[in-house]
Amino acid sequence: MEVQIMAHTFVSMTLFLIILATWIAKGEVVQSFSEIPACGKSFHLGEEPRGLNSSSTARICQRLRGVCFYATLYDQNARIPIYSAYILEQSTTSRPDISSSNWYLEPMLAGIEKPDMQQASTSLVQNNLEQFEESQAVNNDYRNSGLTRGHLNPSQHHSSEAQIATFTYTNMAPKESKLNSGSWNQYENFLRSSILPSCSETHVVTGVIPSGATVQQGVWIHGRVNVPSFFWSAFFCQLKNGGWRTEARLGRNASPFDVQTKTVAELEEILAAQFGEDVTIFPGENSSE
Ligand SMILES: *[C@@H]1O[C@H](CO)[C@@H](O)[C@H](O)[C@H]1NC(C)=O
Repeated sequence: MEVQIMAHTFVSMTLFLIILATWIAKGEVVQSFSEIPACGKSFHLGEEPRGLNSSSTARICQRLRGVCFYATLYDQNARIPIYSAYILEQSTTSRPDISSSNWYLEPMLAGIEKPDMQQASTSLVQNNLEQFEESQAVNNDYRNSGLTRGHLNPSQHHSSEAQIATFTYTNMAPKESKLNSGSWNQYENFLRSSILPSCSETHVVTGVIPSGATVQQGVWIHGRVNVPSFFWSAFFCQLKNGGWRTEARLGRNASPFDVQTKTVAELEEILAAQFGEDVTIFPGENSSE
């Protein structure tokens, strides 16, 4: 009798754990970005873009040592972020000296309930390497791929801990170095030198258009990590002297590596055609012209 009850309890517990593990692995690091106020603040008016999430995306509050710095929508099939959203900040610290072999990974994607990102060398990652590699891109994917680890939320838009927090593989997508160091770099510099000084607050959403939904379509590294066909970005700035300024960019991750200036509405239309849903990058007032 007692054995039966214990067996029953054991089965219930096991079932519970399986359900919990499935929910964490498949579902999300968070169900909604606004669950964590610091995470919700990454978005203009606290509202995440509409039309970009799917059954394979997870919402990540990018947390380093107990503090959430920005938000990422991560596609677990493509193993790249669809976008990262953040507040543009002054960069007063230099790029942290972390080897790409030791950049951060996301335990909660690997089904491990640790809210802080973890460096690849930690025993937590090393002891669960298979789960990490299954659920996200890692350094080995990028090695010898001929492509750079392209930050969506760039390190030079932040300082100190917020800057370190951008060095996670969940904030990277394979990027041609000519785009990364060319026109896209000019856009990032434009945000720093022209937008930051004239705005009291600027929200940026930077994302990608995957080149295919399955490994049979588009370009992939090792059949694991999708190489996006485009990088895109949109910003919404509250001007210091009143009013607002909002613009978008579309950068081709292939020759001629051009970055086109678009209105937010134009970018939304392009994204809607690619993602098959109506897209709104800045839901709320005054968002698109
Ligand atoms: C996207 O997220 C919203 C808000 O959580 C949800 O209502 C919607 O069903 C999601 N869409 C897809 C395709 O999963």
